[in-house]
Amino acid sequence: MEDVDAEVVAGQAVYNRFVLSVYDLWVLRMSCRFLWRCPNPVMLANYQRNVGARHLDLGVGTGFFLDRVSFPQDGSDVTLLDLNETSLRTAAQRIRRYRPATVRADVLQPFPPEAAGPYDSIGLNFLLHCLPGTWPEKGKVFEHAAPLRAPGGKVFGSTILGTGVPIGAVARRLMATYNQRGIFHNTGDDLEGLKEQLGQHFPAYRVVVQGCVAVFAAGDEEDFGDA
Ligand SMILES: C[S@@+](CC[C@H](N)C(=O)[O-])C[C@H]1O[C@@H](n2cnc3c(N)ncnc32)[C@H](O)[C@@H]1O
Repeated sequence: MEDVDAEVVAGQAVYNRFVLSVYDLWVLRMSCRFLWRCPNPVMLANYQRNVGARHLDLGVGTGFFLDRVSFPQDGSDVTLLDLNETSLRTAAQRIRRYRPATVRADVLQPFPPEAAGPYDSIGLNFLLHCLPGTWPEKGKVFEHAAPLRAPGGKVFGSTILGTGVPIGAVARRLMATYNQRGIFHNTGDDLEGLKEQLGQHFPAYRVVVQGCVAVFAAGDEEDFGDA
């Protein structure tokens, strides 16, 4: 792996064993519903709509959604990619029934050959708001993922927007703290910027905003042409 930028390191360093042990409860059950106003079943439904038999997951956390989604076939071809060794280990252990391959890499740098694909689906849930930079800089992850799509393959996920969406007072304070600590990098993340990146890298896409979360999927015209 090439040298990783200090801000990129900070965006993933928080996911140690302790944080991952409370992540599902604090982030996916409580914060999603009560702060970001987008309960986790909305993201699970996005997984369920878009996941394919050969799946690459970027920024895997605890593997919560991968554990719950029903793969179309037996889901035996799952690859997990994350910069954080502890996230990789935790998610891989949780979905060990699929014998996932693991790849340690920074999504902002070209992916290593072990992640070459092709994939029927590539998921990046709650990853973009952890990545430093402007939308064009965050968009690198789409640039790296797009060529790995099999014909008809989909790229999907969700991200917490930091501006131009309804954010309650408590959520706003917590978001500011996360940004100060380098856990989030989303103060400038707006819906238009996300759409622009999706439009640049994929033939078609769809985005729905619930609370302050943008839930998206992208792929070919015939799947998303009416977006
Ligand atoms: C907020 S968690 C999301 C976990 C999971 N996808 C979910 O929806 O609950 C973000 C994950 O992205 C990983 N991550 C953050 N920055 C990364 C980067 N630059 N490259 C690869 N993984 C990164 C973190 O280690 C962590 O596992």
